[in-house]
Amino acid sequence: MLSTSVEEFLIWKKKQLSKGGDQQSFNVLLDCVGGLSRSDINLIAINPYGVLHLKKDLDFLESVWDKHLLDSCPIQYLCGITFWRDLELKVTNKVLIPRSETELIIDIVFNIFRRKSEKFFFAELGTGSGAISIALALAYPLSNVVATDIDQEALEIANKNYISYSKQSNLKFYCGNWWSPLKNFKGKLDLVISNPPYIPKDTYEKLPKEVKNFEPKVALLGGEDGLRHIKEIIQKAPLFLKEKGWLILENHFDQGEKVKKILIKNKFTSIEIVKDHSGIGRFTIGRYK
Ligand SMILES: C[S@@+](CC[C@H](N)C(=O)[O-])C[C@H]1O[C@@H](n2cnc3c(N)ncnc32)[C@H](O)[C@@H]1O
Repeated sequence: MLSTSVEEFLIWKKKQLSKGGDQQSFNVLLDCVGGLSRSDINLIAINPYGVLHLKKDLDFLESVWDKHLLDSCPIQYLCGITFWRDLELKVTNKVLIPRSETELIIDIVFNIFRRKSEKFFFAELGTGSGAISIALALAYPLSNVVATDIDQEALEIANKNYISYSKQSNLKFYCGNWWSPLKNFKGKLDLVISNPPYIPKDTYEKLPKEVKNFEPKVALLGGEDGLRHIKEIIQKAPLFLKEKGWLILENHFDQGEKVKKILIKNKFTSIEIVKDHSGIGRFTIGRYK
């Protein structure tokens, strides 16, 4: 551990933030590389003449911050870590950085499946870093979760993340196109979740460079109108869900009503568009018959 005075740290911090970037990314850098948690930083205000203990010196932290500002690479990729709900997850440029708005999907599940001690069968399509599936497997230890992704390298990261949190084996990963790896589970699933690629092609072309140049295209692009993958997932869902099984989809800010129509066309009921914390209809949920 390296020691630095709070006074020196505060001057350094002000200098770094004056160069650009946002506070949230800076906090990730301090936490992941510097070993300073949010609560450590809050304590500084109580003891402004104290001493801080860092895992890396300020020059090293500055070099990572400068790299982030120079080429717009997300700080989470530079640090190799992100925070999502109460999880600390390994991330590389093979997986999407799980977004804070997606965190709500777990609360939607908690609302529907209230008895955590019951045994359910959940699936996630397009798991990326594994965030959603790991959160579910940990919250429902008696349930089984199966998670798929088209990208084997993403699944390896998801698996590492799961192993770092659990010695259980109630989460299994399968590689392949949407439903195809789940052929053995037809008619067995209580719930399927997916946050599929849903960005329309012209929007994708205009994404900020920190997203477009670094995050996997396969995780973002949803075809011409953004709905290509959502349609495929909904159309085949009835084959895999139990009667009255649930489908929860994340969608782009303006796709809720369109996704609702596709669900109705495919005989789903109890359809609801759920807003995220910014008031955007971010999730569309339904029940198969
Ligand atoms: C928007 S990301 C979501 C990642 C993660 N579930 C999350 O919420 O952060 C979409 C994921 O779907 C995967 N994917 C894209 N096309 C796929 C396909 N045809 N079949 C299965 N997975 C696919 C991508 O590799 C990516 O991990």
